[in-house]
Amino acid sequence: MDHNFEELVEQAKVHLGGVSTHAGFEKVKADFLGPSGKIKTLLTMLASASKEEKPRLGKLVNNCKACLEGVFAEKLSALEDSELLDVLGPEIDPSMPIAKRGALHPLSAMQEAMAEIFHRIGFTVALGPEVETVWYCYDALNMDESHPARDAIDTLYFHGDLRVKNVAKHGDEDYILRSQTSTVQIRTMLAEKPPLRIISPGRTFRRDTMDATHSANFHQCEGLVVDENISVVDLKSVLDFFFKELLGEKCEIRFRPSFFPFTEPSFEMDFRLPSMGKLSGQWVEVAGCGMVHSKVFSAVGYDPNMWSGYAFGFGIERLAMLMYGVDDIRLFYQNDARFLRQFAA
Ligand code: DAH
Repeated sequence: MDHNFEELVEQAKVHLGGVSTHAGFEKVKADFLGPSGKIKTLLTMLASASKEEKPRLGKLVNNCKACLEGVFAEKLSALEDSELLDVLGPEIDPSMPIAKRGALHPLSAMQEAMAEIFHRIGFTVALGPEVETVWYCYDALNMDESHPARDAIDTLYFHGDLRVKNVAKHGDEDYILRSQTSTVQIRTMLAEKPPLRIISPGRTFRRDTMDATHSANFHQCEGLVVDENISVVDLKSVLDFFFKELLGEKCEIRFRPSFFPFTEPSFEMDFRLPSMGKLSGQWVEVAGCGMVHSKVFSAVGYDPNMWSGYAFGFGIERLAMLMYGVDDIRLFYQNDARFLRQFAA
């Protein structure tokens, strides 16, 4: 029986040699690898082999099958190449390097631009997982069980038996899709000692129904600084620098008092630009920020008497929509080349 295997592979090569169409290819493939093909016949013969011979022959059949699959894959790729050449015509050489490369998606370009600006003032990028647990997303950020954002109406929970044991200082936990990048504050502080100076751009999820301004999947950029003697002045000057670099010297920012469970005091940050379409000269809300709450420091084992810090967060789509005058968030995800091409350099 042994030499049958090599012969089979040779036979396949000969048959394939005369094939120049997909239909022809499929027919030969079925003859060899199909449910009533030659390999199947060998497998049936194998059943009647002696007990001692079976393992060795079994191995040979499997090798032969793998060889055949390789031969067929190679032929298929050659067929596809020659079909492509037929479509392109003789004057186009598909092996030439492409003259025009693709461009970054506007949301990726925004994230890169932001990281580059923050990098200049000593920030590094820290990333965290999109699948999170309630402790990182809420408890450690001083958002206790009564906080409405934790409700399944807003947060996307994984149902079933998927629970994690023993994450930082906690028992069993539910997995969720993170609803804010503030989780990375916690992960970074647990992993590193101060001083810290990070931003964390990334994807976030909420149970929102999609419309022109909402998406269940969107992006945020978080910022966190921890050091000795940090004040609101540091926070405001860093955000002022960032927004001027991003939007131009004429950009002004202002802080309004607000509330976030993980900062105290907390602020809402607005910016305005003399020319920004319909919003020219108007204050537009873009970021939340504040001084890191002592309970957040305690949750990660930092001494709140020794360390101080600030945090901020903003939505990347929202900022991109304002900057580029995009009026429908869905455009970012529809992958329509006519939209995306406008952002290509
Ligand atoms: N995580 C907040 C949100 O999703 C945004 C935010 C506000 C982040 C204040 C911060 C902050 O770091 O200090 O709405």
